[in-house]
Amino acid sequence: MPRGGVPRIGIAGIHGHGATHVVEALRLEGLGRARLIAVADHRAPESPVGEAAVFADAAAMIADADLDVVVLSTPIHTHVPLARAALEAGAHVLLEKPPAPSLAELAELDEVARRAGRSVQVGFQSLGSSAVGAVRDLVAGGAIGAVRAYGALGTWVRPVDYWTRSAWAGRRELDGVPVVDGAVTNPLAHAVATALAVAGARTADDIADIELDLLRANDIAADDTSSLVVRLADGRTIAGALALTASVRSEPCVTVEGESGRIVLWYTLDVVQVVRDGEPFPATTRHPRASLLENLIDHAVDEVPLLVPLAATAAFTRVLDAVRTGPDPRRIAAEHVARVRDDAAEHLVVRDLEHWAARVVAEQATFSAVGAPFAR
Ligand SMILES: NC(=O)c1ccc[n+]([C@@H]2O[C@H](COP(=O)([O-])OP(=O)(O)OC[C@H]3O[C@@H](n4cnc5c(N)ncnc54)[C@H](O)[C@@H]3O)[C@@H](O)[C@H]2O)c1
Repeated sequence: MPRGGVPRIGIAGIHGHGATHVVEALRLEGLGRARLIAVADHRAPESPVGEAAVFADAAAMIADADLDVVVLSTPIHTHVPLARAALEAGAHVLLEKPPAPSLAELAELDEVARRAGRSVQVGFQSLGSSAVGAVRDLVAGGAIGAVRAYGALGTWVRPVDYWTRSAWAGRRELDGVPVVDGAVTNPLAHAVATALAVAGARTADDIADIELDLLRANDIAADDTSSLVVRLADGRTIAGALALTASVRSEPCVTVEGESGRIVLWYTLDVVQVVRDGEPFPATTRHPRASLLENLIDHAVDEVPLLVPLAATAAFTRVLDAVRTGPDPRRIAAEHVARVRDDAAEHLVVRDLEHWAARVVAEQATFSAVGAPFAR
């Protein structure tokens, strides 16, 4: 594509999360920054797609639409083959998270991109926020003293029918192909990826080992009530409590515990709070967030560096690999689970989840290790 040209965008997977990409592409089209040339989904569009041609399948769109940028918001197990096709057709790719179902396939895709001279941006939108850099600057500037540990805390609600919305939902594999859906690797993957970014872990070798304690309340193969402790190569740890079985949705966060205080990054809000020991109130700041699609267009047109290049997601993919190759999640005994019907529809609630999740982060130990009754 010539420098200063207007990139031709195609989006595959326009329902579900992909609808947000269509809105963003149309915004960029309105600014004259890009053109939404094509969309692809097995289901016809239900919202405006501008003047885009409509394809029934991503592969056909990639082959026929002569695109500079392809957005892939399709199910996890389609990511690598479709991204490969898009790169080989000469397009840059915005690939939804998790980018690949294994470290080996992530490396393979990176190699395809290198050979094609094209780039892959991964849809971890919280990593497009300058809040992550702000937290790292605060830590480097000594705002909370030496770092003791990192945390990732997410307690969300998902209705029972979330797990039946698509054939791949809640699956560890589908027809023998790894899918690796589940709390750690999909809905709360942003918490894991953001904690790793705050801790400066990008490559697989930045992680020394991973202890997983994966549980499930729903009738699924994947995890919905999960804890993990990631030990980094420098010895520090990130403890995560990530669950879709809370009674109410709480705002998820990444924490940095220091010798003289704590930083909390509310990563969906781009808000950072610094709580210094001895001070009664946190200092709160809000930070701008860049659009990952706009950044990819700037990269395609003017070689601006990517915010979330594929290679920077290797540490996250190492965690995903541990989930993929680890034991199946254990079922939580019925006595610890309530079936609730409220505004959030019918959903399963694990008793005292929030209490035990907070302990996981505070004690840097899994649900089992802190003694959560539902993990016995
Ligand atoms: N970044 C985020 O915050 C975020 C949030 C939710 C989901 N996601 C990711 O987005 C991706 C999609 O998730 P979802 O929950 O929207 O899934 P979904 O199953 O609800 O929607 C996927 C869409 O892709 C379509 N599709 C499937 N195969 C296709 C193909 N070969 N060609 C064209 N269209 C095809 C389906 O018809 C469907 O409309 C996943 O990777 C998921 O992890 C990201």
